[in-house]
Amino acid sequence: MRYLPVLVASLVASVAAAPSNIVRNNVYGYSAELAEFYSRVSHYIGEIRQASTASPTCDTSKIALPAQASGLPAPPAGQKVLHVAVGRGTQNYTCADSTANTKPVAIGALASLYNATCVAANYPDLMSMAPNVVINIALPTKSSSTLPPANLELLGHHFFRDTTTPVFNLDTTPERQYGIAISKKNSSMSAPTDAVKGQHNTGNGAVAWLYLDTINGTVGDYKSVYRVNTAGGNPPATCEGMGKTFTVQYSADYYFYG
Ligand SMILES: *[C@@H]1O[C@H](CO)[C@@H](O)[C@H](O)[C@H]1NC(C)=O
Ligand SMILES: *[C@@H]1O[C@H](CO)[C@@H](O)[C@H](O)[C@H]1NC(C)=O
Ligand SMILES: *[C@@H]1O[C@H](CO)[C@@H](O)[C@H](O)[C@H]1NC(C)=O
Ligand SMILES: *[C@@H]1O[C@H](CO)[C@@H](O)[C@H](O)[C@H]1NC(C)=O
Repeated sequence: MRYLPVLVASLVASVAAAPSNIVRNNVYGYSAELAEFYSRVSHYIGEIRQASTASPTCDTSKIALPAQASGLPAPPAGQKVLHVAVGRGTQNYTCADSTANTKPVAIGALASLYNATCVAANYPDLMSMAPNVVINIALPTKSSSTLPPANLELLGHHFFRDTTTPVFNLDTTPERQYGIAISKKNSSMSAPTDAVKGQHNTGNGAVAWLYLDTINGTVGDYKSVYRVNTAGGNPPATCEGMGKTFTVQYSADYYFYG
């Protein structure tokens, strides 16, 4: 399977054909992230062209969390990577009033998850850059089956069953039934200080990196889920001028272990 050429062909096609699916209210921020991404991708294409061996395979045993995730508990012994996804959606908050004395409270998130397992197996640097690019793409609708610019395939939907129970439903069609991870937070760490703050690197910062354990009701072999490489998603420090509920754009990588 030739993962990278597919990724690149669709990258070029999607940007050329549908520039309107990219939010462009700050063309400079957009260019810096995407230019770096393209530069890495073209470097890898060059390497593949020169290699006499076959294109990269997809060996999930090679997948590792980003080094900075050492601030979270390591995956428990015996657990293996089952999927890696890029998520794109919103973090949701509520405010009791609109004053500077009140702080926003997290009430959940809604995101679409796209299959990036083979990118993670071969190009961990592209994986860590992906949320920085993807946060600048328009929010997917519930039925968006691929994610530009790389046309990754829909893997599932992320939402909250209640304010403390993140759910990852990977059953998308009758043919694509990959189970449901129902989880609770085990540990968190602040995102690295250089994380992208929001769309076009403007906003209140990147949501924390998380280690979630699965709980009863989970369907499939899922035992833990990591949220890493976050971009955006943090609320303002106070509720001043904010409505009763509001959403903040974010993207992140999710690693499913079991
Ligand atoms: C989060 O916000 C989105 C967009 O407004 C909404 O569809 C979703 O139901 C909200 N989810 C929660 C848990 O508030
Ligand atoms: C994810 O994509 C890879 C190819 O890139 C494929 O081999 C794998 O089956 C996909 N996983 C799911 C759950 O669709
Ligand atoms: C967090 O995860 C570790 C390692 O899997 C486990 O030993 C511990 O009991 C968990 N703690 C909580 C609060 O869930
Ligand atoms: C989860 O299910 C197991 C086995 O049925 C049961 O022993 C345990 O009490 C349940 N835990 C919770 C938190 O419901």
